[in-house]
Amino acid sequence: MSTTSRCIGISTGGGDAPGLNAVIRGVVKAALLNYNWRVIGIQDGFDGLLWPGKTLELTHDHVRGILTRGGTILGTTNRGNPFSYEVVEDGKKVQKDLTPRLIENMKELGIDAIVTIGGDGSMKIGYELFRRGVPLVGVPKTIDNDLSATELTFGFLTAVQTATEAIDRIHTTGESHHRVMIVEVMGRDAGWIALWAGLAGKADIILIPEIPFTIEKVCDKILEREQLGRQSSVLVVAEGIKFPPTDADGKPIPEAKPGSVGNTLAYSVRQHTGKDVRVTVLGHIQRGGTPVAFDRVLGLRFGVAAADLVAQGKFGHMVCLHCGEIRTCKLEDAIGIYRTVDPSSDLVCTARAAGISFGT
Ligand code: F6P
Repeated sequence: MSTTSRCIGISTGGGDAPGLNAVIRGVVKAALLNYNWRVIGIQDGFDGLLWPGKTLELTHDHVRGILTRGGTILGTTNRGNPFSYEVVEDGKKVQKDLTPRLIENMKELGIDAIVTIGGDGSMKIGYELFRRGVPLVGVPKTIDNDLSATELTFGFLTAVQTATEAIDRIHTTGESHHRVMIVEVMGRDAGWIALWAGLAGKADIILIPEIPFTIEKVCDKILEREQLGRQSSVLVVAEGIKFPPTDADGKPIPEAKPGSVGNTLAYSVRQHTGKDVRVTVLGHIQRGGTPVAFDRVLGLRFGVAAADLVAQGKFGHMVCLHCGEIRTCKLEDAIGIYRTVDPSSDLVCTARAAGISFGT
């Protein structure tokens, strides 16, 4: 590939994450400086290869000054799977396989190989494209840090830092008003952000999807603290927590989705403790802003390594981090396998030893 590849495409898919621009910079710099390739930026995930006017040639100028920027300069989407793309035909919405168009456009643009940066969904699409003959390599991305193939994803530590700073601020209102403060953080399937930010931000209770809790135990901890003279408690809650069927008074708990779990919990805690409860949903604040130094460096390392993978012709692979070193693995071995918090891990034990309750 190193002798024949003269032009690579790069796309970012799924939710944005701090550090994406560092990856783009790493790919572009390595491609231009190490390999003398051209680089085409594909906009808005794979949409850029389906519709006209959504690609641009990336030069040194495009990647200047982007290390500090959140988001992605290429744009992204978490819709638009080319294998099942929603289009309107005869006034009706239908799903169509647009990959022949994608491959055709790729050829027309002279793109020899693609670097796709994305979460599990994007990697699944990437793997299917690879199986259809598209030379493609992957870079894993999620602030949730829940991909088993890599010990860390860029964006995670920035999200943890942002959440920790928010929790630090929440403490003072809780203490001043003698309130229970609930902070809902991201983490649809795994509690990594809640656990790390809860530990760093000195939460009193951390609730994560991996550890089943009861409302009674949560309230016991709040009331126990009150008896010790602590009028306020801070709860850090992952958006993916699974509520028990009933609350402390045996009443059914309504279904709660990400964005509303904090409020659902607040209702039960208010009812059972009689305390004043306030909720802060951090939401996309955790995905934005300037990446911390680690995420910038990891993004750059992943980007350069992805360009190296293309040069080696190791298609159908993605870059990952193992024991602090950049490695590679097959896409098929990486997709659909999540890394969740082990309830007996040292992180959870550390939290318990520090007096933090998991509502158990
Ligand atoms: O996968 C990362 C993530 O941040 C999840 O924790 C969150 O539920 C999701 O993205 C939200 O994505 P969006 O609102 O962009 O659809």
